Amino acid sequence: MRDLISEMAGHIVVNGVKIARNGAALLDVPHLALNGPGPTLILGPNGAGKSLLLRCLHGLIVPDKGFVKQDGVPLNTDQTARQAMVFQQPVLLRRSVSANLDFVLKRRGLHRSARKVRIAELLAEGGLEGKARQSARSLSGGEAQRLAILRALALDPDTLFLDEPTSALDPSATQMIEGMVLRASGRGVRIVMVTHDIGQARRLAADIVMMHGGHVVEHGDARQVLDAPKSEASRRYLAGGLVT
Ligand SMILES: Nc1ncnc2c1ncn2[C@@H]1O[C@H](COP(=O)(O)OP(=O)(O)OP(=O)(O)O)[C@@H](O)[C@H]1O
Ligand SMILES: [Mg+2]
Repeated sequence: MRDLISEMAGHIVVNGVKIARNGAALLDVPHLALNGPGPTLILGPNGAGKSLLLRCLHGLIVPDKGFVKQDGVPLNTDQTARQAMVFQQPVLLRRSVSANLDFVLKRRGLHRSARKVRIAELLAEGGLEGKARQSARSLSGGEAQRLAILRALALDPDTLFLDEPTSALDPSATQMIEGMVLRASGRGVRIVMVTHDIGQARRLAADIVMMHGGHVVEHGDARQVLDAPKSEASRRYLAGGLVT
């Protein structure tokens, strides 16, 4: 039974979700089921509704209509507490790198000795072993983003949402973060990640959600969506053309 529950963890279903502001429909997703084992990548042009959808899935925005369910029940605070989110601009405490991780672990109730072990593991996972005592605010963009992901992982989440975590990073920093994401996925963490980097989608995604104008225009196996997109909006986005 335990195995069955852990296998199911992180299955997300969106049903009839609508968000409007000032009379404009920003998000309109009749149905979306994220239940595959591998990373889900969300793609689409600026303003397509990717970040809004991610915020809905994490319970940061309650839709005007419809609902999000995880593992068969409407999203609740117990579930969102087991999710973690990494924003495009990392939010870090004005403390040392290790203190940023310690803060999360302490809130989870880990004792001092267990926290020390876990911090060492996390620093190694993010390649930040030599930075433990450095002020988090003085990290480079790539290092700060790695620390933000480590903080998210320190929550031991069943689901990890990432909103364009590598958009401002060079290829080697991007590669390090992609490694962290793939390893988390390999450990069973459900990954839902927004990107504009089609190469990244090709490297990471099991399935791809294509968005345009607040709608999910396509959702399917990554290879199929990237190599043989079914919707015109997907075709044009992937071809690098303007989608109007
Ligand atoms: N609180 C809000 N009030 C009004 N409009 C909003 C609000 N939040 C988002 N929007 C609008 O909703 C649309 C979708 O925004 P969203 O941030 O989800 O886009 P996105 O796909 O993440 O784009 P990008 O690639 O630029 O990050 C945009 O037109 C945005 O201006
Ligand atoms: Mg966005």
